[in-house]
Amino acid sequence: MKITMIGTGYVGLVSGACFADFGHDVVCVDKDTAKISAIEAGRMPIYEPGLDQLVGSNAAAGRLTFTTDLAEGVKGADAIFIAVGTPSRRGDGHADLSYVYAAAKEIVEALDGPAVIVTKSTVPVGTGDEVERIARELRPDLDIQIVSNPEFLREGAAIGDFKRPDRVVVGTTGSERAIAVMSQIYRPLNLNQAPLMFTGRRTAELIKYAANAFLATKITFINEMADLCEAVGAEVQDVSRGIGLDNRIGSKFLHAGPGYGGSCFPKDTLALVKTGQDYDTPIRIVETVVQVNDLRKRAMGRKIVKALGGDARGKTVALLGLTFKPNTDDMRDAPSLAIVQALEDAGARVVAYDPEGMHIAAPMVPGVTMVKSAYEAAAGADALVLVTEWDAFRALDLPRLAASMNAPTLVDLRNIYPVAEAQAAGFTLSRVGSAA
Ligand code: UDX
Repeated sequence: MKITMIGTGYVGLVSGACFADFGHDVVCVDKDTAKISAIEAGRMPIYEPGLDQLVGSNAAAGRLTFTTDLAEGVKGADAIFIAVGTPSRRGDGHADLSYVYAAAKEIVEALDGPAVIVTKSTVPVGTGDEVERIARELRPDLDIQIVSNPEFLREGAAIGDFKRPDRVVVGTTGSERAIAVMSQIYRPLNLNQAPLMFTGRRTAELIKYAANAFLATKITFINEMADLCEAVGAEVQDVSRGIGLDNRIGSKFLHAGPGYGGSCFPKDTLALVKTGQDYDTPIRIVETVVQVNDLRKRAMGRKIVKALGGDARGKTVALLGLTFKPNTDDMRDAPSLAIVQALEDAGARVVAYDPEGMHIAAPMVPGVTMVKSAYEAAAGADALVLVTEWDAFRALDLPRLAASMNAPTLVDLRNIYPVAEAQAAGFTLSRVGSAA
């Protein structure tokens, strides 16, 4: 199959490289000349484990090419995927679809024959209908099918998620040609027994939002349980295990922490809330999740101040991890941003170390001193805060860290370190959802 991928962000680049790895012939298109040149030179615009090798090997095999010329890129394509950004619109939280519609218009104008246009970007219910309207209006001469194929990949595990998905959702309006093209594109996944699920287009669009909102709700539920555990003297990790072993609940996405962040959950929960309000069907549970999670991030700053004895003025706080989760350099809506803000407001000086995210974080938190290791961060600090659970932070030499600090206080926002181990190292420990 000849596939064109519009947009070389997270979803576009990973999907394009994986499709090429399946043996398809893929052209990735992006307007950003510098980005395309960098990718062609082997420099990836994002940090994602394994992506540079995947892009390199498929480009070398001639199955993956890059261009800034959209019209050239779509020529002869069996399917054209739209994987451009859908940020939250400034002011009202609706998904900003201007990039999607602009891409759709350009694709349609450049088409030289019948085509299947697939939205892979996360788009609100009804976007496919609007793309179809654009296509019919501009090119009544062509048979253009519009399909929704939401992507569920996680940053840091994106290639594995793409190649071994739990399911692939394809929403169509029933066109046999669209179903045949999509089946052919995803046929290599049959080997991994991933169910290819065909639904209506609006349903597919909603599935993506419903999945993300449900996961965000699960996290927020356990985070509120964590607060309750602290108040009543219970252990959230045991509560999590105790409920997660029930197959109906499941153990995943039940890790209490500083609140969810990233490029998807905050944006998609907000967009779903707006859609519910627009259709006069408020999704109250998700409205609450959004509020609770926003408040939680700042509350983590107060938790650290409390661990400092209630007064942060003139004290130094060392943060381990800045990205919203490990194995990414993504800082979008990272809890660390709210934590830094709260600490600086309380008069603390903040130092930080992150294995991959510091180049992106530095301009976002200009008051923070970036250092080169966890040990350098801890030296002379009054509190050490584990914000992001990078593997590199899982086996630190705790006695060495404690000994180098002005006051050995550890705030473990990911509950990585066992209480006994931290205390034996000389730390006063504060965890999430724990009596410790
Ligand atoms: C998410 C979805 O998992 C993915 O299917 C979708 O396509 C995009 O959004 P991603 O944002 O990459 O992926 O990260 P994910 O691993 O899901 O984590 C999201 C946030 O939730 C992170 O801030 C993480 O720290 C937090 N989280 C996750 C928890 O606090 N507790 C958990 O148990 C799980």
